[in-house]
Amino acid sequence: MDEVKRLREAVRELKALQTLGEWIRWGAARLEEAGVCCGHGLAAPGDEAAYLALHALGLPPEVPAPVFDTALTAGERQAVVDLIRRRIEERRPAAYLTREAWFCGLRFYVDERVLIPRSPIAELIDAGFAPWLEPQAEVRRILDLGTGCGCIAIACAYAFPEAEIDAADLSTDALAVARYNIRRHGLGQRVRPVHSDLFAALGGARYDLIVSNPPYVSPQELAGLPPEYRHEPEHGLRAGDEGLEYILRILREARRHLRPHGLLVVEVGAAREALERRLPFLPFVWPEFTRGGEGVFVLPASALPTRPEALGL
Ligand SMILES: C[S@@+](CC[C@H](N)C(=O)[O-])C[C@H]1O[C@@H](n2cnc3c(N)ncnc32)[C@H](O)[C@@H]1O
Repeated sequence: MDEVKRLREAVRELKALQTLGEWIRWGAARLEEAGVCCGHGLAAPGDEAAYLALHALGLPPEVPAPVFDTALTAGERQAVVDLIRRRIEERRPAAYLTREAWFCGLRFYVDERVLIPRSPIAELIDAGFAPWLEPQAEVRRILDLGTGCGCIAIACAYAFPEAEIDAADLSTDALAVARYNIRRHGLGQRVRPVHSDLFAALGGARYDLIVSNPPYVSPQELAGLPPEYRHEPEHGLRAGDEGLEYILRILREARRHLRPHGLLVVEVGAAREALERRLPFLPFVWPEFTRGGEGVFVLPASALPTRPEALGL
């Protein structure tokens, strides 16, 4: 009897919902109740509900306030309900449901072949890597190592209009997505997808700036992640050796690929502690982010040893 009463109330509640704003509040409550994990670029159930509802209506993520007061048609309501339901039942991150993600204010196509862009490095790109790069520094060549959907490489191309960018990844699946995004942004002349195991296929190329968000999630950490992360390609997350597998390789080889005034920027997330324990003598600088996130180091080329053996790894 109680169950019948509960269902009747739920139906009454649904019938009362009219405007987009009301449907977003309904969606947020359902996502909260279901305990979805919001770790893929949207901070809270309310943000996810708003993003999914706007997408269901064919609207961009930012709309003028009066839009939230408009009443939805029956078809629109159904589209919103369907997306919220899929988000809960499939535990699939919102970006994989909509096939789009936003990074540095730019739109990217994403699917399950690539990690969903969310790196705090976006904030550094928006600032032109100041104060670590002088505003007048000559930045002609940039390398994005582990490019995924190409978001860092492409955002760097906008931030440094004179630069040529290599977008490297070992995954041919990821490179197919990166290639598509490069084309959609009309940057085929300046952003080059490269199939490479870290620096292996780059020959003797030297860069003014190397940026990387490599895999850095240790197997133990990976096992404890919420179900949403299992939709992402494991090769984009997993790294052995306490999460340091790729980070240490990058540190060993970076100096050889940086110009003397060059800069290395790497996201290491929770592997920071292990990294500082392993290489206490490297003068890592850890930028603070106003938009959230942490675990990104900046190192000038001059701080890296010329001989990789000097790292003692
Ligand atoms: C954490 S994801 C970052 C993707 C993208 N740069 C971003 O920030 O959203 C790491 C990427 O590194 C790639 N990767 C893994 N091992 C690699 C290797 N040995 N050489 C080059 N790329 C690699 C993965 O395929 C994945 O696309």
